[in-house]
Amino acid sequence: MSNAPLKLAVIIGSVREGRFGPVVAAWFAEQARRHGSFEVDVIDLAEARIPLELPAVPPALDPDPQRPEGMTDLTRRLSAADAFVIVTPDYNRSIPASLKAVIDWHFTQWDAKAIGFVGYSGASGGLLAIEHLRQIFNELNAHTVRNYVSFPRYYLLFDDEGRLREPEEPAAAATGMLDQLHWWATALAAARSLEAVG
Ligand SMILES: Cc1cc2nc3c(=O)[nH]c(=O)nc-3n(C[C@H](O)[C@H](O)[C@H](O)COP(=O)(O)O)c2cc1C
Repeated sequence: MSNAPLKLAVIIGSVREGRFGPVVAAWFAEQARRHGSFEVDVIDLAEARIPLELPAVPPALDPDPQRPEGMTDLTRRLSAADAFVIVTPDYNRSIPASLKAVIDWHFTQWDAKAIGFVGYSGASGGLLAIEHLRQIFNELNAHTVRNYVSFPRYYLLFDDEGRLREPEEPAAAATGMLDQLHWWATALAAARSLEAVG
């Protein structure tokens, strides 16, 4: 196995105008860099072209379809990642359509990789979206880690400069999640070099 640091892609799941997602992602990326066990890449879905019209053939039959030119950089970065942290709000008790579309456009990019979550929203702190993501990634043979970070009523927790008013508890939650993510990402990187089962 290579000694290069594992690659962690932090994905900003929302793309709407005026979104809060980049603030949460910037905070988490800082935690991940401080953790020191990953090379961190922050992926903003708003920078990619992600049409809702999917390819004609399902991904299990054609895992590498022709993708739009505006998705090339995104696909390359997803392929390179050993682990992901999805930064997601709750949209109507689920995930933003941008996130579902990018998941559905890809297949092998998620396969046998470790996934963690940072959620935020008004009442439920992203937990409803996170639970849906666990089901979705199970279908894609990814491993979601138990620990997560959640910010209910995030607008009370961050100040106008995007800094947490009381950072200790969220920082500890991030460390716990990153510890699990690194353990699983290491195990899965080794496992991916073995022959896959059905
Ligand atoms: C379409 C939509 C649906 C939403 N549904 C929920 C919801 O079900 N539960 C909740 O607590 N907040 C909900 N919210 C509030 C969002 O969590 C909040 O606006 C958050 O800032 C959205 O993330 P974003 O700013 O990155 O887009 C919803 C917001 C939008 C735009």
